[in-house]
Amino acid sequence: MRHLMSPLDFSVEELDQLLDLAEDIEKNPKKYAHACDGKKLATCFYEPSTRTRLSFEAAMLNLGGSVLGFASADSSSAAKGESISDTIRVISCYADICAIRHPKEGAALVASSKSGIPVINAGDGGHQHPTQTLTDLMTIRSLNGRLGNITIGLCGDLKFGRTVHSLINALIRYENVKFVLISPEELKIPDYIRDDVLRANGIEFKEVERLEDAMHELDILYMTRVQRERFFNEEDYIRLKDYYILNGEKMKLAKENMLVLHPLPRVNEISVEVDDDPRAAYFKQAQYGVYVRMALILTLLDITV
Ligand code: CP
Repeated sequence: MRHLMSPLDFSVEELDQLLDLAEDIEKNPKKYAHACDGKKLATCFYEPSTRTRLSFEAAMLNLGGSVLGFASADSSSAAKGESISDTIRVISCYADICAIRHPKEGAALVASSKSGIPVINAGDGGHQHPTQTLTDLMTIRSLNGRLGNITIGLCGDLKFGRTVHSLINALIRYENVKFVLISPEELKIPDYIRDDVLRANGIEFKEVERLEDAMHELDILYMTRVQRERFFNEEDYIRLKDYYILNGEKMKLAKENMLVLHPLPRVNEISVEVDDDPRAAYFKQAQYGVYVRMALILTLLDITV
């Protein structure tokens, strides 16, 4: 039985196969419409979500399966003090596969160690968000044509941003990927990514504070939200929340074919005027999330079509 805790749980070859499958699903959805007939997906979300939970549910429904679950800790027996280990043992009696989101780092890993069914980490605190990374990789590969030989700017909350941490871990495995890390001092990338991932693997990167200074060299700009829920005090959040706002003026500094990605939800960090720019890829990215989660469910359930 296989779980997904981190994008590194798949080799590059396995990731390529998964993205190939997701592309085939995008092109031939009818072929997969009954692939999961009789199977059930449980979505156990202890933290708010729109895209991840609903795209997982759409993915299973598109495959002919069914879904069950809860959308907040308050509406589960976690509110009565039940441990995640006990919960997953019980869910294993009800479903064939489970996606878990939890505010605590490592919660999905604990669940997987007690589970009788495959567990997917749908986001654990500020740690990892591997299915967002699969979505990001599919978006870059589909719209940019390749995952290697790119310069990618990661902008905003690089300290707590689990999507950024997962994406860096995944992209360093491709050839000639350069990173420009754009953040205020307080939200810089953690040492365990800068030193243990980037420096340790000899990856080219630089850290800058102004988005304007980086725009001209980027093939991909990955914007992120400053996450109110990860701050210990409101004052710091208010000071930093509008630090970066990508607008039409800044887009003029970018390459003609640069792609703008964002895991969403956005607050103010991308002005709505950018939505009509052909380089804005963040809503397409959300659509790719369904195909890639369909491919993941099939892969973890070992179903071939
Ligand atoms: N990208 C993402 O994880 O969105 P949600 O928080 O809405 O699931």
